[in-house]
Amino acid sequence: MTVSIESLLKETRVFPPDEEFSTHAHIRSMEQYQALYDKSIQDPEAFWTEMAQALHWFAPPRDILVEDPPHARWFVGGTTNLAYNCLDRHLPTLRRNKAAILWEGEPGETRILTYHQLHREVCRFANVLRKLGVRAGDRVAIYMGMVPEIAVAMLACARIGAVHTVIFGGFAAEAVRDRINDAKASLVVTCDGAFRRGQVIPLKPVVDAALGQCPTVRHTVVFRRTGDRINMEPGRDHYWHEVIEAVTASAPPLPVEAEHPLFILYTSGTTGKPKGVVHTTGGYMVSTYLTTKYVFDLRETDTYFCTADVGWITGHSYVVYGPLSNGATVVMYEGAPNFPDAGRLWQLCERHGVTIFYTAPTAIRAFMRWGEQWPMKADLSSLRLLGTVGEPINPEAWMWYQRVIGNARCPVVDTWWQTETGAIMISPLPGATPTKPGSATLPFFGIEAEVVRKDGTRCEDNEGGFLVIKRPWPSMLRTIFGDDERFKKQYFADIPGVYFTGDGARRDEDGYFWLMGRVDDVLNVSGHRLGTAEIESALVSHRTVAEAAVVGRPDELKGQSLVAFVTLRPGNPATPAAKHELAEHVAAEIGRFARPDVIRFTDVLPKTRSGKIMRRLLKEIAGGSETKGDVTTLEDLSVLAALRASQEEE
Ligand code: WTA
Repeated sequence: MTVSIESLLKETRVFPPDEEFSTHAHIRSMEQYQALYDKSIQDPEAFWTEMAQALHWFAPPRDILVEDPPHARWFVGGTTNLAYNCLDRHLPTLRRNKAAILWEGEPGETRILTYHQLHREVCRFANVLRKLGVRAGDRVAIYMGMVPEIAVAMLACARIGAVHTVIFGGFAAEAVRDRINDAKASLVVTCDGAFRRGQVIPLKPVVDAALGQCPTVRHTVVFRRTGDRINMEPGRDHYWHEVIEAVTASAPPLPVEAEHPLFILYTSGTTGKPKGVVHTTGGYMVSTYLTTKYVFDLRETDTYFCTADVGWITGHSYVVYGPLSNGATVVMYEGAPNFPDAGRLWQLCERHGVTIFYTAPTAIRAFMRWGEQWPMKADLSSLRLLGTVGEPINPEAWMWYQRVIGNARCPVVDTWWQTETGAIMISPLPGATPTKPGSATLPFFGIEAEVVRKDGTRCEDNEGGFLVIKRPWPSMLRTIFGDDERFKKQYFADIPGVYFTGDGARRDEDGYFWLMGRVDDVLNVSGHRLGTAEIESALVSHRTVAEAAVVGRPDELKGQSLVAFVTLRPGNPATPAAKHELAEHVAAEIGRFARPDVIRFTDVLPKTRSGKIMRRLLKEIAGGSETKGDVTTLEDLSVLAALRASQEEE
């Protein structure tokens, strides 16, 4: 059957939850998970009514779910405010003087904002926005580095019902301009610059360059971070520290409808125009609150550190809204993970006593490459839970993370989700779910996930297919901003009646989900359809390999031949013998047909700024063609030149 994906990887290790951990966990057993999950599926009305009650509503929801496929509205009739739930709700409790944000700048300074202080800053900035003419429903673009004020700006928008669109601070002027224009933002919040790897990254100059072609923007507010000289246009540009002085700290939150838009976040399709994913207030609030609480098994005394930049969905949901709505203490770090040296994050964990650490596989593979000596130098005994998100994590990286960072003592939660899903969808619950390295395990409450064939029929156990979600969930995207047709076509057209994730996956005999990569990247070799993740995983399981990406290139005989781009761990020579050894290793792990035809060594792989390997570019390079399409999301353009050069030596 040509539409399925063959699954090759056999991973048999299982790690049951630690008894001691389970005893204190919110969800303590598989029975408890199963009972709640069954309830969430069989009686969603009752389940979500109960869950929503943990949060504050000015008016309670009338209808839990109103469907108009493929659209869905949640908590209809309810009014709430997410900033209220992240801040005001905690003020009459012991959380009032608890640290909300523990911030560390790259140069080394720290700032602590308690819930009381954060509330105050948010109220003041809400007043600034109101004063500059921002009204409910207006779009505000936020283009800043990782300073606490980025969270303040987002929460201030939420407080007054304005819709934020955060643009990652690494984007260049063109990308900033396109996003501002697509969203028709009236105000931009930015910084003079940001510190990264000991350098100043200019931000305001980028905004200046963009604003030449942004007719909707009337004002900017500039937070001074680096103190560099910047251009300030009178009447248009305002310094944060000046405008904040002219307002009071009293700003009543605006109760908004549950379906009031909260933010737009642009996600690059692999080609073409970025998509403005729209999330609304009530459903997003409930899902991020609930997943943070259960997936990270959050306790009042935790110190939680998610390394994602707030410019990505992970930063929105699991640096800002999820943890703060739970009243957690969030560690926020401004700079590069290897500045001044590769021990930075571990020093940070030690210094702040981090208990929960959430990062991406790309970062974990970098930690592996930098070497165990760095985490070994720090006292990581405060850690009690590790998480990962963003890509399939290969079992080797999972094992390393568990052993070296977690000291073989912390559960690892591999969380699968997307910008579009808003919140974690498939993940272990650390006190209940036995984990298997490389598997995101089981669906979260209310999530009906399935692996299907192209015609929508269910795949057999271990048969690779398309990952779909069979019913709406509270934090699902509502539309693509300004392009509802694209929303329908992109997610609901390929497979009738369900949400199509774009990911390949298989489900094993225990019902566990194993992600196999984007289906756009699926390889077709001699009639075998193979996911990229498994072959890459086989490569990375070799002791010399730090990272690998596999793509297909047209081949008359085989349909596609396999080209593997491989980064070696330090100290391993890039020789023809090494290539041969790796090819044989894959043949032994998976089978001869999956043996890469070409192996190319490279120091770096092209990645998006959020750390995903851009296989589309590698495909073009492997095929010898010019790189086409959007490269604005590429982290480092010089990587392309280096890869082309490596071609000549092939
Ligand atoms: C991939 C990030 C395997 C997947 C929150 C998805 C994963 C895309 C995992 C969304 C995981 C994310 N295992 N693959 N645990 N988490 N992905 O929008 O391909 O930046 O569709 O959201 O990342 O990326 P996005």
